Amino acid sequence: MSYKNILLEQQESIATITINRPEKLNALNKTTLEELHEAIIDANANTNIRVIILTGSGDKAFVAGADISEFANYDVSQGADLAKRGQILVFDLIQNATTPIIAAVNGFALGGGLELAMACHFRVASDNAKMGLPEVSLGVIPGYGGTQRLAQLAGKGKALEMIMSANMISADDALKCGLVNYVVTQEELLPFCEKLATRISRNSSTAIAAAITAVNANFEDGINGFDEEVKQFGNCFGTPDFIEGTTAFLEKRKPEFE
Ligand code: COA
Repeated sequence: MSYKNILLEQQESIATITINRPEKLNALNKTTLEELHEAIIDANANTNIRVIILTGSGDKAFVAGADISEFANYDVSQGADLAKRGQILVFDLIQNATTPIIAAVNGFALGGGLELAMACHFRVASDNAKMGLPEVSLGVIPGYGGTQRLAQLAGKGKALEMIMSANMISADDALKCGLVNYVVTQEELLPFCEKLATRISRNSSTAIAAAITAVNANFEDGINGFDEEVKQFGNCFGTPDFIEGTTAFLEKRKPEFE
């Protein structure tokens, strides 16, 4: 499938999805969100892809937010629909993908851009990156999960400060508050993420999928994360990867997961 606003690349078992509207700082318009939805569904279902890296085109922005020009005239119900559709189509899809998704934050990650990075399983930033949720400066609030995920990642006080002030924080400050796992130079960003992805890709993909489901359960209403962990742990015992992983250990060799 060919896309207008995103680029797809695959090297061995690692897929890179690049949001490609650099002239608009990769702002998320309707087409881009729809294409991201398709690309993530395809990559997540592709058994040859073990890790996905999500990044932005150019050296200035990861994503500078939802496309403001598209929603400036919306009314109350269109606004609610925009948030709901986006959350279901892309943001929840990424969070619940069973293939690991790493955000390579290569510049501005603002509003919907930071929300996109936060929906990923974890984040690596380049040292020029700037992150923030500036929605209140536009008279609106984050609508793609930002009020929830920022509080989960950085704590309630930091989330409220960032949301209320609309301030951008540096990559180093994002590292300090747990929003990103690493900060590297811009040149190092993709190679660093690819190295991490390669490391992850050597492990059991069924066990990784189970781990994602169990960790996410902690943040879902009405689900007991410990119970989900027990269920996922038990399920692992019925997988070929479990047989291969334990057998390889006992035979003192490296496992070869299918
Ligand atoms: N939606 C739509 N267009 C956007 C955008 C967004 N969120 N962010 C940037 N753009 C567009 C600009 O309108 C401009 O387009 P133009 O050249 O056709 O006028 C282009 O991207 C370049 O942006 P510009 O503002 O000229 O770059 P800058 O370096 O001066 O400033 C930012 C960079 C990120 C500080 C600034 O673009 C900005 O504040 N963007 C909006 C951030 C935001 O509020 N996001 C949350 C949205 S909910």
